[in-house]
Amino acid sequence: MRLFIAVAVPEQVAGELESAVAPLRPAWPSLRWTGRDAWHLTLAFLGEVSDAAAARLAGSLGPAAADKPSLALSLGGAGAFPASNRAHVLWTGVRGEEAGLKALAGSVAKAARAVADPDSLKADDAEGPSAEDGRDFLPHLTLARARAAVDVRPLVAELADYAGTPWTAEEIYLIRSRLQARPRYETLGSWPLGGPSAAGGGAASRT
Ligand code: 2AM
Repeated sequence: MRLFIAVAVPEQVAGELESAVAPLRPAWPSLRWTGRDAWHLTLAFLGEVSDAAAARLAGSLGPAAADKPSLALSLGGAGAFPASNRAHVLWTGVRGEEAGLKALAGSVAKAARAVADPDSLKADDAEGPSAEDGRDFLPHLTLARARAAVDVRPLVAELADYAGTPWTAEEIYLIRSRLQARPRYETLGSWPLGGPSAAGGGAASRT
């Protein structure tokens, strides 16, 4: 099955973003716009995974999540892959504890690699920006895709000042993607992050 690991976007945050994006869609029919039901922040894309590896993964994501703090995040601005003047992906960015989100992405990618099938498809082999490696990971939420490159500079400019309401991400999700005309996502499990990052006081050191 085709799997990825993600952070969810709360209803209110998705609703705000929908209000900002909806007026822009009609003028850009060459883009395949994502719908709010598909909005999430991918931490790691795993590609095809066997049932056995998926079961091992479900066992290892709990500890990986518990080891990392919950994260204060918000959505804002926009950008494109590989570049705004020849875009295949239009996205809105992630603000707040972005460094923490990158660290979390690196940690779940490591957990996934540790339980992967030896002959599994690597994210690098698939098309699109890879989220598998924490180092190259640029947190984003995909708003639209295009097969042929599109100059989306006006859209990026329109969304430059977009700033969504902050929220705290408190869990990670393992999601199955079924490729159809529109990909269908099914949540297989969720695991809580370890707790407040800046609360202090309660952090026990491991000896
Ligand atoms: P994207 O939003 O940047 O396209 C399910 O496909 C999720 O996994 C999407 O959110 C997608 O990110 C992400 N993903 C990351 N790398 C991918 C790849 N090589 N192929 C398909 N999806 C990928």
